[in-house]
Amino acid sequence: MKTQVCIIGGGPSGLMLSQLLHLKGIETVVLERQSREYVLSRIRAGVLENGFVKLMREAQCGDRMDREGEIHDGFFIAHDEKMNRIDLHKYSGGNSVMVYGQTELTRDLYEARDRMNGIVIHNAEDVQPHDLKSQAPYVTYRVGDKTDRIDCDFVIGADGFHGVSRKSIPQDVLKEYEKVYPFGWLGVLSRTPPVSPELIYAKHARGFALCSLRSQILSRYYIQVPLSDRVEDWSDEAFWAELKRRLPKEVADKLITGDSIEKSIAPLRSFVAEPMRYGNLFLAGDAAHIVPPTGARGLNTAGSDIYYLYQGMVAHYLKGDSSGLDNYSEKALARVWKAQRFSWLLTTMLHTFPDSMAYDQKLQETEFNYLFSSESAQRSLAENYVGLPF
Ligand code: FAD
Ligand code: DHB
Repeated sequence: MKTQVCIIGGGPSGLMLSQLLHLKGIETVVLERQSREYVLSRIRAGVLENGFVKLMREAQCGDRMDREGEIHDGFFIAHDEKMNRIDLHKYSGGNSVMVYGQTELTRDLYEARDRMNGIVIHNAEDVQPHDLKSQAPYVTYRVGDKTDRIDCDFVIGADGFHGVSRKSIPQDVLKEYEKVYPFGWLGVLSRTPPVSPELIYAKHARGFALCSLRSQILSRYYIQVPLSDRVEDWSDEAFWAELKRRLPKEVADKLITGDSIEKSIAPLRSFVAEPMRYGNLFLAGDAAHIVPPTGARGLNTAGSDIYYLYQGMVAHYLKGDSSGLDNYSEKALARVWKAQRFSWLLTTMLHTFPDSMAYDQKLQETEFNYLFSSESAQRSLAENYVGLPF
């Protein structure tokens, strides 16, 4: 098979790029290792910045998001029985975020690809890019016992952190920066009304907790857990009891609990691979960088990569101008590092670190107190949370 752009990975990054390029008349094929059902069973991001929301609309996938998503103008940071509100609207020049689940937007992107007869090949195993430095790269893969090959102009590595794309860049070219945190987030999805109309990030000596939501009848909660914990160790009852301990009493008393629909542990990691281009391979999203989820930046940063790639590809194919593709890595990484900084800052401020020294704890408290004594600090937090400009 021949196409213009072969995209490895049918997560939000790959599908979004495929959809945007299709609308400009640029051909793509998406290769996804898993079944569609599997991809749509993952519960991940919930908070979208404005830039991502606009991209969904540009991809003609925004209708359900605009109907069912919730605009949030602020969120709370709870500590010591106090609920401190960050006024996103006030401190970001009238901006806000959209609460709409990654699972739902991925479903919308798949439906759009189906409507437009986009090619998404599922259950693609042994995916391998070749001749990336040449003008005629290609990707081989196998479905069942049939192997095939896709010839293309460009390969996009949108196959997440564990994908094959980043690994096909020679080690002496790629520089990797990594920070692994000594804890994870245990997440529970439950068909219960959310405890608060706005998100609550809770800082507590027993560990961080987050109250989020997907709709007025679907809640998403997280608690910080040691890396050694396994999901099987946590019954629903134990989860709810621990969550309540970490919330202010007025919130804990209102919490409605129920059976978990999904329960999983995500380790916290910061990671960046540079450069994001190797020959005619471009990395995008989690394939190139990971943030701890605290700042809700992961999917949103994938969105800015896709925006830059989309602009670069359109200029290349429609105007013969390759400068956007040539600048892609540099431009994307500048924004990626700002998301890394913000995610690290928020993670450091809100979590309990097992081996932290008294000095670090004092600094953490000071950072926290400074935030709520300074409008400039709240403005900086709000500006980053709603998303820096693309
Ligand atoms: P992925 O979603 O990982 O998609 C990659 C796809 O490639 C997958 O479907 C995978 O099956 C496929 N693949 C992998 N290997 C291969 C291969 N060899 N061949 C073919 N296909 C392959 N971000 C936010 O912005 N806001 C949030 O609120 C937020 N909350 C989060 C909460 C949690 C608990 C977690 C874990 C993450 C959160 N994130 C959040 C991060 C966000 O989910 C990710 O950044 C996002 O999924 C990245 O999308 P992606 O398409 O780049 O990668
Ligand atoms: C959600 C996840 C996050 O990482 C975050 O910062 C906010 C919300 C969520 O899954 O709803």
